[in-house]
Amino acid sequence: MKALVYGGPGKKSWTEVPDPVIKNPTDVIVRLDATTICGTDLHILKGDVPAVTPGRILGHEGVGKITAVGSSVVNLKVGDRVLISCIKSCGSCANCKKGLYSHCLGDEGVSGIGWVFGHLIDGTQAEYVRVPYAENSLYKLPESVTDEEAVMLSDIFPTGFEIGVQYGGVKPGDVVAVVGSGPIGLAVIATAGLYGAAKIIAIDLDANRLEKSREFGATDTVLSSDKNWKEQVMALTDGAGVDVAVEAVGIPDTFTMATEIVRPGGHVANVGVHGKEVALHVESLWIQNIFISMGLVNTNTTPMLLKLVEGKKLPASKMVTHRFGFDQFLEAYDTFGRAAETKALKVLISR
Ligand SMILES: NC(=O)c1ccc[n+]([C@@H]2O[C@H](COP(=O)([O-])OP(=O)(O)OC[C@H]3O[C@@H](n4cnc5c(N)ncnc54)[C@H](O)[C@@H]3O)[C@@H](O)[C@H]2O)c1
Ligand SMILES: [Zn+2]
Ligand SMILES: [Zn+2]
Repeated sequence: MKALVYGGPGKKSWTEVPDPVIKNPTDVIVRLDATTICGTDLHILKGDVPAVTPGRILGHEGVGKITAVGSSVVNLKVGDRVLISCIKSCGSCANCKKGLYSHCLGDEGVSGIGWVFGHLIDGTQAEYVRVPYAENSLYKLPESVTDEEAVMLSDIFPTGFEIGVQYGGVKPGDVVAVVGSGPIGLAVIATAGLYGAAKIIAIDLDANRLEKSREFGATDTVLSSDKNWKEQVMALTDGAGVDVAVEAVGIPDTFTMATEIVRPGGHVANVGVHGKEVALHVESLWIQNIFISMGLVNTNTTPMLLKLVEGKKLPASKMVTHRFGFDQFLEAYDTFGRAAETKALKVLISR
């Protein structure tokens, strides 16, 4: 089969590799119909994730059909159309039983790390993939949900909803600010309304992304390159700050921005993946009675989000801006890697 193989920092190829085979009784093999590229894949290609070694097939998002099942798989069969979650979940360890799939203790990849695809085991940017713990890590898809809608549920929608909205404790009437309107920030914006946010303020440097945020439910937008961006945000509240400030960029400045606009008693939910040291000003924040949360997505809300997509309540396919065939993988990377110029949000690669 062909797959997108990491060759070390700055190197990747769409190349011939051996087909995956069942290794454990709980595995299945999926023939991918659609996959996509995540910002994390770009981080890997820069060499920012040293656990990813040359030869690794990248990708942790995808949809396809089962072509083989391991001997202990009973609830899935050859031909089933499934959504692949970006997080492995054995379903039986202490963390999985708590819904903390992001720290699944199953020893596939590394025990205690849920994100293994395209990281510690071969991923989904391929014609076929081996899925460990398949019964807990795959979701059967209803016919009415399209491949491109479903692929948006492998990672970005659960991440935005769980780590932004749920960890942020959004409740009815809240003013929610989201710093960063990339795919993850837009997923926060699209799901904040589920818990009754009254106002959703999108904050970004990119005017195009702010315009897009309105399609996902932002009620107000603030350009963070404006000198008075903070005053603009405050003016959209009762003057005391937002109830929930979500960081969805992953740089020190935007985390600080989130702590500067939250009201006393409010929540700061960090979703961004940080590669650099980030300052936390406890000396000024301690008196604010704020809650700060962060984490890796669990994907334990995927079945619920899937129901919303099925009911046409989530604008999942609006996330897809560019479409490619599997033989155009490198072109897809190029388009996604130049998102500021190409206006790409998510690129769909399908058969
Ligand atoms: N916690 C998790 O489980 C998890 C899962 C997936 C992704 N992530 C992380 O979420 C973050 C967002 O992902 P994405 O794919 O949407 O990223 P992205 O790079 O596509 O989007 C980031 C957005 O932030 C904006 N931005 C950059 N600097 C800014 C600034 N100073 N002020 C305001 N806006 C600014 C950019 O214009 C862009 O629109 C990344 O750090 C990613 O690694 C976390
Ligand atoms: Zn991802
Ligand atoms: Zn587990």
